[in-house]
Order: sequence, then C-alpha cells, then structure tokens
Amino acid sequence: MEVFSTIKSLQNAVNTAKSNGKTVGLVPTMGALHEGHLSLIRSAKKHCDVVVVSIFVNPIQFNNAEDLRTYPRTLEADCEKLETVGCDMVLAPSVEEMYPEPVNETYDFGELEAVMEGPRRPGHFSGVAVVVRRLFEIVQPMKAFFGEKDFQQLAIIRRLVEQLQLPLQIVPCPIVRADDGLALSSRNMRLSDQARKIAPQIYATLKTAVYNSKSQTIEEVKQYVTDTLNGFGVFEPEYFEIVNDTTLQPISQWSEAQGIVGCIAVWLDGVRLIDVIRFK
Ligand code: PAJ
Repeated sequence: MEVFSTIKSLQNAVNTAKSNGKTVGLVPTMGALHEGHLSLIRSAKKHCDVVVVSIFVNPIQFNNAEDLRTYPRTLEADCEKLETVGCDMVLAPSVEEMYPEPVNETYDFGELEAVMEGPRRPGHFSGVAVVVRRLFEIVQPMKAFFGEKDFQQLAIIRRLVEQLQLPLQIVPCPIVRADDGLALSSRNMRLSDQARKIAPQIYATLKTAVYNSKSQTIEEVKQYVTDTLNGFGVFEPEYFEIVNDTTLQPISQWSEAQGIVGCIAVWLDGVRLIDVIRFK
C-alpha cells in the first residue's frame, strides 16, 4: 500500500494502474477509520482491481468550528487498518493541497437538501459535494463506495453524479453496527462510558418502531420514537423523519412510497449521532 500526500503523485500511480488495464475504485473518508469504513473497502476490493482510499477532514463541510477542531485525526492507525483490508493507495492531502484557491462553488440539490440534515447544517452538503467532485476528478474511478449510514449524503452524491453526468457508478454499502446495535461512527469515541452504554437504545427504539409500523400510523410511530428517547432523560432527538427513500421527502401514509426509511439525529453527551432504519 502506498500513501500519497500530493494529488499529482497519487494521479501518477492511478494512471499507471489504469494503463495496465486495472479498474479503480474510490472510497472517500475523513479518517478515524472503523469497521464501517473497512466494509466499504472490502466491498471495493470485490468490485475493482485497485482501491484508492482518501483520508481528508474536509473543513468546508463542517458548520461547527468545535466539531472540526476536535474531529479525530489518526492517520497512522488508519493506514495500519487499511493495510489489513488490502487497500492499494491512500490519498491523505493537506488542506492547502486540496484547496489551493478559495472555494466558491456551490450546489443546489433542491428538495433533497431541504430536509433533515440540510437545514440544520447549512452549507454541509455543498461542502461534501465540492470535495467528492474533486476526488472524482482526481481519481476518475470506475466505482465509488458510500455508506447507507449517511443516507442523505448518499442520495445527494447520486444526484451530483446525475447532474454532472459523471461516468462512474455509485455503490451503496449497508450500515455496520457494533454488537450492541450502535451504528459505528468516528464520533462514538467521544462518548463517555456511560453514554456509550445507553447509546444502543437509539437502534433498539428504531427496531421497535419498525415492528410498531405494522399497526401504527406514521404520526404514531414518530411520536413513539421521540417519546421513548426523551423518556431516557439523556437523549435529545433533533429530528426523526419517515421519508421516501428516493426523494427523501416526509410521507404521511405507509402506502405513499415503495421504499421507506426512518432517519434520526440525536444528541447524547454533547455528541450528535445519526442513524437510519428501513421500514420497507
Ligand atoms: P466519513 O464520515 O469518514 O465516512 C466515510 C464513508 O464511510 C461514508 O460513505 C460513510 O457513509 C461510511 N460509513 C461511516 N460509518 C459507517 C457505518 N457504520 N457503516 C457503513 N458505512 C459507514 O462521510 C464522510 O466521511 C464525508 O462526508 C466524505 C464523503 C468523505 C466527504 O468528505
């Protein structure tokens, strides 16, 4: 595995691989890697000959300076993990390398960003789109891999690829959870021991919500989730939306869409956790 800090050197290596007839897959990350990220790389290894992982804490997608400042940066440990799953190339650029000029592109994802994370994290998805588009341009992969944990991000990236008619395929990968059900996230390491113990109640509540959906209306299920989490006295649900899995628009009847997911953001112990569950 080779680690590159400059775009040019990575591109040279990628171009050599391509000229040898290899297919290239890209897995964008912000590092602090865990099994969720590694599952994307394992999937990429199955689809592509050469896997490039980018590790870049993208400042322009953070709308909270403290979150950016405290975001874990663990490049050495990340590279050790990447070796074990057969990653071929790592791009770990500095902010100046990635953004030599001030960024002034913005994107409009319409209704997709009018819900859930969009209004609560102004500029976040534009920042994600800018960096992902750059990474696509740098690597020009055949396939790129994204986790369903960030369900809205995945929908936005699909829309970006459509809007720009980029010649690559987006491969969605299922959420990886800890044994107790908590969705793996780099932010979990900020939870106190006590908070970490109670955090699996988020997924437990979502699972019960799916069970309840056989007999309850959408409104009742939404109420159940927020009431249950509030009942613990430590969770602060920011939103729980039941949405069409393609348009991400909230629905009011179970019959309204073919694919339906529930997306949640919850504060626990000063940490913002997100999760998603499929209803159908
Ligand atoms: P990051 O949070 O590091 O996540 C990188 C990728 O790993 C994303 O596609 C995310 O959905 C996936 N992922 C994270 N936790 C997961 C889990 N528990 N199960 C499955 N997949 C999981 O998402 C970003 O970085 C950034 O926004 C990025 C796309 C890299 C742009 O900066």
